[in-house]
Amino acid sequence: MSSYVTRKTPGNTAWFTHDRFGMFIHFGLYAQPARHEWIKTNEFIPEEKYNKYFEHFNPDMFDARQWAKTAKAAGMKYAVLTAKHHEGFCMFDSKYTDYKITNTAFGRDLVKEYADAFRAEGLHVGLYYSLIDWHHPDFPIDRLHPRRKDADAEQQDKGRDMKKYAKYMRDQVTELLTNYGKIDILWFDFSYSTPDDYASNPSYSEIKPWMQFKGGKGKEQWEAEELIKTARSLQPDIIIDNRTEIEQDIVTPEQYQVLSWPRHPETNELLVWEACQTFSGSWGYYRDEQTWKSPKMLIDMLINTVSLGGNLLMNVGPTARGYFDKRANNALAVYEEWMKYNSRAIYGCTMAEPEFLDVAPRGTRLTQSADGKRLYIHLMEYPYHYLEMHGMAGKIEYAQFLHDASEILFTEKGSNHFSEGRTKSDDLVVFELPYIKPDVIDPVIEVFLK
Ligand code: GLC
Repeated sequence: MSSYVTRKTPGNTAWFTHDRFGMFIHFGLYAQPARHEWIKTNEFIPEEKYNKYFEHFNPDMFDARQWAKTAKAAGMKYAVLTAKHHEGFCMFDSKYTDYKITNTAFGRDLVKEYADAFRAEGLHVGLYYSLIDWHHPDFPIDRLHPRRKDADAEQQDKGRDMKKYAKYMRDQVTELLTNYGKIDILWFDFSYSTPDDYASNPSYSEIKPWMQFKGGKGKEQWEAEELIKTARSLQPDIIIDNRTEIEQDIVTPEQYQVLSWPRHPETNELLVWEACQTFSGSWGYYRDEQTWKSPKMLIDMLINTVSLGGNLLMNVGPTARGYFDKRANNALAVYEEWMKYNSRAIYGCTMAEPEFLDVAPRGTRLTQSADGKRLYIHLMEYPYHYLEMHGMAGKIEYAQFLHDASEILFTEKGSNHFSEGRTKSDDLVVFELPYIKPDVIDPVIEVFLK
């Protein structure tokens, strides 16, 4: 069994740490301007201009079953869909606002169709809910708000009541956790409370003296304790992230490949964690973006993440017609091809035990089955014919390439090669690999341990 014990979580993370791989879906009005989900604030778009996107929103090619089948084929076991992003537009039929998808030409409750379709395909269902809301009349204008540079911003902000907005969030979270069946993940995003010494930090230059809460917002403003209590009262097992500024089930490094398993800052316990990443730079559909990751980068990120005991949440930004564009489908097909043959090295796996980590050959990552019986050597850099690994003599029952179950021959204490200077040592195992890398990104050696 794995020797790694993670800090106890309030929600049920057992399925989560087994399944390892999920799909993030960022979908909203911002798919129409098609240049980042922060477009409203990045370009200070006036309300009447942004309203054009509400008036014209009609993802007529949306097909929840197609989304679900594509995610499943890619090897993803869960999904997290934006029910509401920072723009404040609701992808569900909320009775607390008119700014919702059922009031557009599309006319249907997209969250309901998403939840039903993904559940029908056997995937766990998650919802992202933005704490930030650039549309709500009671959301105070702050250092991120699209209206912050308006000449009358201070006037616009008068009367905005954060408490009313916090109640609005509790009401909507109640709707989301009541009307759409079992929700497995509630992904809040994000807090940005302003430190007392902000004045000395140039990154806070957008803060104005009249802004409430020093132009930032955190757990006090969200009334996060109450918000989380509301969620757990409805779905006690639900997994909740850490971005309300109150620790819950998972920490969520974003667009970042950690180099060690995240630990609790006070207790140093290992944490349940999930890296979230985009195929390109933007979370929302970005038509003209050219920074799409290569197939190897996509697979490397998944392996890197699981080799450190984490989950990978890979994001798709659908087009405003409602489908995944060709670039997204091509990226998902890379995962489908690799997971088809190599998912055994991901599902139910975690960081390899220290005895193996300490001797991992250069250019490899290791994962290990939670029952400890199978070690996976991921060849991130394909070695030239011989792969030496100390500390393994006497421990291997059998070894094969995972993708085609072709035997990998190995010798102990040294290689069978005649070359002068080859390594010989009592604890050594030398794997003999094909000279030419198999036609697989990051080929995996499956080692059955004695
Ligand atoms: C950041 C971005 C937000 C995105 C989130 C995904 O918080 O501001 O747009 O939804 O990352 O993790």
